Amino acid sequence: MSVHSWGRPLCRSADLPERGAAHRFELPGADGRPQAAFVLRVEGELRAYLNRCAHQPTELDWNPGQFWDAEGRELICSLHGAAYEPRSGRCLGGPCGRGRLQPVAVHEQDGWVYGPAPAAGGSADDNAPSAPNPLPHAR
Ligand code: FES
Repeated sequence: MSVHSWGRPLCRSADLPERGAAHRFELPGADGRPQAAFVLRVEGELRAYLNRCAHQPTELDWNPGQFWDAEGRELICSLHGAAYEPRSGRCLGGPCGRGRLQPVAVHEQDGWVYGPAPAAGGSADDNAPSAPNPLPHAR
């Protein structure tokens, strides 16, 4: 997998339909260990967060990549039902209180979604495709 100076390929843009399933990936934590994260599309824009509830440090998704409520309006934690605003990650209700999801920087270009470089020695994302090198100066 190629890693660009501004990130690594996570998935194709077409893999993230409006308010559809998220793409899960990992990124390095402060201690160097991989952290779970996800990216999805809302109102045409990408939003990415650590996959960790503000209530308790557990992953949110009901099934891998499934974060939306039944109406596709809010992101819901599968454990106790905390609801998050998808564009800001802010808690809207439930046991997340005044917490919020932690954002992750992602980048979309030429039909690909790019994220942070993987943790050193980490496996990153086994499902990540091999993207073409979109920039002539990218390494
Ligand atoms: S762990 Fe998410 S609502 Fe409790």
